[in-house]
Amino acid sequence: MDHEEFRRFGHQLIDWIADYRRDCAAGAFPVVARMDPGALRCRLPAGPPRDGEPMEEILADLSNLVLPACTHWQDPRFFAYFPSNSALAAVLGDFASTGLAQLGLNWQASPALTELEEVVCDWMRQMMGLAEGWSGVIQDTASTSTLVALLCARERATDYGAAHGGLQASTAPLTVYLSSQSHSSVEKAALLAGFGRDNVRVVPVDEQYRMRPDALRDAVEEDVRRGARPCALVGTVGSTATTAVDPLGELAAIAQIHHLWLHVDAAMAGSAMILPECRPLWQGVEAADSLVVNAHKWLGASFDCSLYYVRDPQHLIRVMSSSPSYLRTAADEQVKNLRDWGVPLGRRFRALKLWFLIREQGVSGLAMRLRRDLAHARWLADRIDEAPHWRRLAPVPLQTVCVRHEPPGLGVDGLDRHTLAWARHINESGHAYLTPAMLDGLWMVRVSLGVEGTERRHVEALWALMQQAVKAA
Ligand SMILES: Cc1ncc(COP(=O)(O)O)c(C=O)c1O
Repeated sequence: MDHEEFRRFGHQLIDWIADYRRDCAAGAFPVVARMDPGALRCRLPAGPPRDGEPMEEILADLSNLVLPACTHWQDPRFFAYFPSNSALAAVLGDFASTGLAQLGLNWQASPALTELEEVVCDWMRQMMGLAEGWSGVIQDTASTSTLVALLCARERATDYGAAHGGLQASTAPLTVYLSSQSHSSVEKAALLAGFGRDNVRVVPVDEQYRMRPDALRDAVEEDVRRGARPCALVGTVGSTATTAVDPLGELAAIAQIHHLWLHVDAAMAGSAMILPECRPLWQGVEAADSLVVNAHKWLGASFDCSLYYVRDPQHLIRVMSSSPSYLRTAADEQVKNLRDWGVPLGRRFRALKLWFLIREQGVSGLAMRLRRDLAHARWLADRIDEAPHWRRLAPVPLQTVCVRHEPPGLGVDGLDRHTLAWARHINESGHAYLTPAMLDGLWMVRVSLGVEGTERRHVEALWALMQQAVKAA
């Protein structure tokens, strides 16, 4: 492809994306892909083409084959999982990133990538009201950020044991504390960091699904008594199932006494901290050692864009650094080499999409949208609270409402069948997408609000659909 062809097809593709996003916002597609497993695969050639194909054919297949196999995360009737907003300004930022094709192996390999990343991470720090002592970097996902946090915790507890015998040289087992509501990526990170499942403590939660500080204290003290070494604690602000908020202040006090590394998983809820009125939710965060906030969720920076903040960057660098001769430069003493701030060597220019987003929307634009979503969640919670046989199952501190329809006389199994049936009815209708999840051993339905295009009328339509669906189920 030469530059003029790129210009021509690039314009076509931008038009195609603009049309797609316009149609998506208008609800032109069923929200969930309507296809059987394997249906796309069997329409594609099993092997690659021997010779190049015309771009026209590739773009036609994008419309005819790929699009029908997509579930539409930007559809305003998408209420599943969590919002993964990809604001149009961020899409352009990502385009620019791919076009510029920077690879940040070190500062010199792309000063722009490195310095813009420093700047937007610090903008976000300020936007969330965090103290100046935090230093940020962009990772791909919260899963990676939490893995990095637990590796740093392990290395602090073992006085940089990886440089010697590693965990295998450790005489006492190191323990990690999370809650039954922690995201699955937390346990996965603990296992990948080598702690071992036997040393992962799942701390019980209270009736609002928050980690219980008394139970944490008991677990830590029991571990100390039996000769283990408490090492790391992961607190969650905005849990995946119900957006529960762990009491960080109380957890931090326990962490301090026992020298636990405190990592805060605010992957979903961190965006809300650009609203000063939400910040009491993470009161105590300043005492943490590390923090993750996914700008690729509610905020609107297209996936992937996970902001990882640490208190002690020198420790992070010591754990993560590698300095083969070919990567060293004369500037090393004066700059950040972000390869030393995480696992991968190569680094995409992710900061561009966040920079485009923040500049185009302004903090006030972003804040206005998030406030709108909080109001939508409260509106829906109120409808549920006043409707007979509907039950809201958890507090609604943010944008997720957990709900069950409980007509009398169904019994436990009948209730589960009913819940799954009405959720399936909605999802198969194509008019909305919701995800059921287990809470306290029973199925419930999560309504996760916050897609950029979701207006009050979409939430009202959803509530009407829910009421129809429970009759049809
Ligand atoms: C609280 C929480 N933590 C972690 C994650 C994992 O995020 P990622 O896909 O960026 O690894 C999620 C995503 O659902 C989440 O809600």
